[in-house]
Amino acid sequence: MIEFDSQKQQFHLYNDQISYVMEVLPGGYLVHVYSGKRIRRFAQSQPYPHDGRSSFSPNVPDKRLQGFTLDLWPQEYPGDGAGDYRETAFEFTYADGTNATTLTYDHHEIVAGKPRLTGLPATYVEDDSEAQTLNITLKDALRHVAVVLSYTIYADRNVVTRTARVENEGDTLIRLNKVMSGCFDFTDSDYDMIQLPGAWANEKQLRRDHLAAGIHVLDSKRGASSVAQQPFIALCSPNTDEFQGEVHAFHFVYSGNFRIAAEVDAFDQTRVLAGINPYEFEWQLEPGTSFQAPELVYVYSDKGLNGMSNTFHHLYRERLAHGQYRDAQRPILANNWETTYFNFNEDKLVDLIDNAHKLGVELFVLDDGWFKKRNSDTTSLGDWQVDRDKLPQGLAGVAKAAVDRGMQFGLWFEPEMISEDSDLFRAHPDWHVHVAGYPSSRGRNQLVLDFSRPEVREEIFRQMAAILDELPITYVKWDFNRNLTEVASVGRAAAHQKETAHRYILGLYDFLEKLTARYPQILFENCSGGAGRFDPAMCYYMPQSWASDNTDAIARLKIQYGTSLLYPASMICAHVSESPNQQVGRITDLSTRFATAASGNLGIMLDLGQKDRTDLPEVAAGIKFYKAHRQLIQFGDFYRLLSPYETNDCAWMFVSPDRKDALLFFFQILNSASRPHVKLRLCGLDPAATYEIDGQQLPGDELMNYGLFIDAGINHDFQARVLTLHQVN
Ligand code: DGJ
Repeated sequence: MIEFDSQKQQFHLYNDQISYVMEVLPGGYLVHVYSGKRIRRFAQSQPYPHDGRSSFSPNVPDKRLQGFTLDLWPQEYPGDGAGDYRETAFEFTYADGTNATTLTYDHHEIVAGKPRLTGLPATYVEDDSEAQTLNITLKDALRHVAVVLSYTIYADRNVVTRTARVENEGDTLIRLNKVMSGCFDFTDSDYDMIQLPGAWANEKQLRRDHLAAGIHVLDSKRGASSVAQQPFIALCSPNTDEFQGEVHAFHFVYSGNFRIAAEVDAFDQTRVLAGINPYEFEWQLEPGTSFQAPELVYVYSDKGLNGMSNTFHHLYRERLAHGQYRDAQRPILANNWETTYFNFNEDKLVDLIDNAHKLGVELFVLDDGWFKKRNSDTTSLGDWQVDRDKLPQGLAGVAKAAVDRGMQFGLWFEPEMISEDSDLFRAHPDWHVHVAGYPSSRGRNQLVLDFSRPEVREEIFRQMAAILDELPITYVKWDFNRNLTEVASVGRAAAHQKETAHRYILGLYDFLEKLTARYPQILFENCSGGAGRFDPAMCYYMPQSWASDNTDAIARLKIQYGTSLLYPASMICAHVSESPNQQVGRITDLSTRFATAASGNLGIMLDLGQKDRTDLPEVAAGIKFYKAHRQLIQFGDFYRLLSPYETNDCAWMFVSPDRKDALLFFFQILNSASRPHVKLRLCGLDPAATYEIDGQQLPGDELMNYGLFIDAGINHDFQARVLTLHQVN
């Protein structure tokens, strides 16, 4: 899968689907040649402009390489201050205060499998035969600095992962101002750029624009990957749609500040760079030490956006998530948040548990408000001891009510936060992220604990462990409801202050590593005021994430459609909530709310104790339906068929790995009189098979090529239709 042609000094990483080619040019410059659909080999000499087109593209100092300019060549890890004026992959400052650095090839090694990254989550292999890794060491001998670029190609996935490690080989400090994880140079620029910007309760809104000249930056400076952007960008050919066309996608496996830049230069070439945001970042690299950048995942698809998503879904479900829940069906949960908020007592919860159990719910989750004096969001974060006023028998009483009924019990925490009104704050008024002597901004009335400090992490771990060790808890919802401000750590030397944001994330990963190792029986759900930190790094620790605080079935169509670009249904948690919806006031049918929520990892957030409810039989039927199809939804292949961003409808489907079963979801947004019929062409079926669908037996090829009219019985706003397909021969 990885070949080195020593004559041509060419690396070729390939599998049946993709190729990635690089060359070492005379002078040791490592240039990018090709990434995309599999080619047998790359034979041409490269057509890039050798002779600097003008003196404004400087030539390299080595006079033997007359005319060679870094400013025009596609590169693998472009340097700083030495003739390439495009976006740089790195910026280092040396003891003399200068920056100029040119990295050239020193040596390489090819290893079986995929080595783990120390301290950072990443995709992995279970067996060395699944992938090969190429480590190329580049050096600037004058600066005594080395960068090891690592490339892993999977044997049977359209994926190359990249990372970079910087090593200080000298005897003076190097200040790292920027260390990107990967650079991808393309010799053309006719691309559409896809991104997933968002806001609270409006996450992952798909946006597609033609890539114009200049530098386009997607980033986060919030100390978290953030609600505002996903650390993701895709470049696709303008004719690419869900079903066909080329896509190059990049997803950064990191939960903190990131920066992804796409630059189109004057010669219509495109550079994509992704890594930790250099904003408020500087790392002091002592002699003899190294700095490891997080992983960047590159996915290539020549089967449109569905092809891209399919690759991400399989990779993340099979080789990013880990632990005993990775391959396990996820329980249907009931959560009390939208029903009670902070206002509950044991009777109310037991009533909810009892009703949930009767409907077939498998896990009860007690959300925010169970600890200390937490009757509003102004207090008690950091004091993870049960509120005996609300729950006189402690958590044990509620847990027992669930366990006695054969249900599981789960609990909400927000471990990284502290309220000023808390015992923890009174004891440690300097444990939050802040600039000493400078006022702190608040978000949701709270401050952020300084997880870059081990003693802070240890105290929170101790408090959590006291609960998790005692109670039969099989699920934890880990929330994070604000972003970082005034980023500094008390006691950290001035020269190291700009390491704080990254050290915070390393501290978080260290905590999660220990927590998930100590409690393998617990299913962790990642949450951040909705999806404010729903990124691949968090998916490594927590196999499922809360997709949005917006539980409206129609608003969720766009949110879940956008989320599905990268994440499989098993990672996307979705709940059936009350109508009118509490976030947007929309009134929707229960069947529509079920259809949206059942397109992910199903939960219930209904006030089941209400005495006058007439919809409980329908809720029970929805749960029963989900149980019957859960394996297909959570572990099948997912195809988007109709986009709510482009049409008044939305449709998607799930197909089982053996193609024997499928589930089709159609949603009409607004109804109109005399609207044309909607015909859907299905995907992923066996063309030679016949499927039982909607009382008919229809051939797979007909369903995929002619399609199926789907709008029978659709006659009002916000309506859904769900059809099952089962192979009959
Ligand atoms: C934000 C979460 O997204 C909600 O689901 C809920 O857990 C609240 N926090 C609780 O404060």
